[in-house]
Amino acid sequence: MSAEPSQVEATPVRAAAPIDKHEALIRSDNFKKIRTVVFASMNMSAALMMSREQVRAGIEQIAAEVVMRERLNVTTAEQTLIVNEILNDMFGVGPIEPLLADESVTDILVNGPDQVYAERHGRLELTPLKFRDNAHVINVAQRIAAAVGRRVDESSPMVDARLADGSRVNVVLPPIAIRGASISIRKFAKRNITLARMAQQGNMSPAMTRMLKIAGACRLNVVISGGTGSGKTTLLNALSHHIDEHERIVTIEDAAELQLQQPHVVSLETRPENAEGLGSVSQRDLVRNALRMRPDRIILGETRGAEAFDVLQAMNTGHDGSMTTIHANTPRDAITRLESMVMMANGNLPLLSIRRQIASAVHLILQIERMRDGMRRVTRITEVAGMEGDVVITQDLFTFRFDTTAYQDEVRGAFESSSLRPVFSARAAYYGLEEQLLEAMRP
Ligand SMILES: Nc1ncnc2c1ncn2[C@@H]1O[C@H](COP(=O)(O)OP(=O)(O)O)[C@@H](O)[C@H]1O
Ligand SMILES: [Mg+2]
Repeated sequence: MSAEPSQVEATPVRAAAPIDKHEALIRSDNFKKIRTVVFASMNMSAALMMSREQVRAGIEQIAAEVVMRERLNVTTAEQTLIVNEILNDMFGVGPIEPLLADESVTDILVNGPDQVYAERHGRLELTPLKFRDNAHVINVAQRIAAAVGRRVDESSPMVDARLADGSRVNVVLPPIAIRGASISIRKFAKRNITLARMAQQGNMSPAMTRMLKIAGACRLNVVISGGTGSGKTTLLNALSHHIDEHERIVTIEDAAELQLQQPHVVSLETRPENAEGLGSVSQRDLVRNALRMRPDRIILGETRGAEAFDVLQAMNTGHDGSMTTIHANTPRDAITRLESMVMMANGNLPLLSIRRQIASAVHLILQIERMRDGMRRVTRITEVAGMEGDVVITQDLFTFRFDTTAYQDEVRGAFESSSLRPVFSARAAYYGLEEQLLEAMRP
């Protein structure tokens, strides 16, 4: 059982040697000289219409000429570094380009020209990277925004944007950001946490992963419930890996995070209103639209409001195998939250019919928790069994049972099957999976 990365913690560390050298070079007079000549002798607006490689050739030539003419003490390797740096300045995100390319970096935080933090493996570290000055940071921030058709300047000093690779960027310019322009990049995490990996690291038991795979194959509608950062989206993503390749999947998210592996996926993302208060596209709009796109399954990243009504409808009208997450503390709480969201969307619906809708739409609720030892655990797999009177009936198929004799700072316990016969075993039989299901449930 391997532990998850530790909590975020700010620890400035010493620079690695190669970056020091790199920094010394880009702070050197030689660099400044070459850069100045390049920028003076190139037609910038024309250069920006060319490809990076085309421009590289031009810069290489100019740099070589400057080195020759001024007899600068610059090696060929340094010359290449300088050319790259100038290219990054022109095309990319300047000094933070290497952090964007580094797969182990998950977050990049620029606080003015002299402070660049990077998060790796859950630890925040001060890097030796620096911008030339505040204007340089602003320049990079504006280029990032411009690349996605957004503007950031005095009149709109804050902007959210998504980079081409899916990373999210937030920019705040001075004077709103008092200590210099701030750029926060949350890199598009490559989520390779699979169900198997989750079983390995103790997020759930192997039997639970077997049951979840069967649930997916039987096209159960699944709601993942948990707190912020508990791992809902990660679990949703892991579950989605087991959807058949031939299905057409429509995903709906506020910020595209899911990484489906299947070939036939349409990913939709909401949009906030623009400066004139127009053009917003809500999750509800997207769920409704998705129904007209002939999806086999709909995956809604997180149910937060009125779209709950439409998603339940989708689940009830042949889009079996749909999945979503919800912010709730228990499966029971998840049902209550769904009720109130539907009620807000459609005030005329009597509670009883809302409950009936939930009871027939939702098959499974997975409760996930980040516990005090830092481990994420699927604490319950709860099946919605139907209605009794005006109450939605549930039964727990798996639970995490705490070992109360453990020391205070430890979390010990075991994942246990309730050995109940799942209501969906009839459905599993239809898919030829009943035997496997009952086997997974065996304690
Ligand atoms: N099972 C897991 N093992 C290790 N890291 C995880 C796991 N689940 C989530 N994480 C990490 O925790 C963070 C929050 O996870 P996420 O799934 O986005 O949570 P939520 O959707 O509940 O807010 C992410 O950085 C993710 O990589
Ligand atoms: Mg999430």
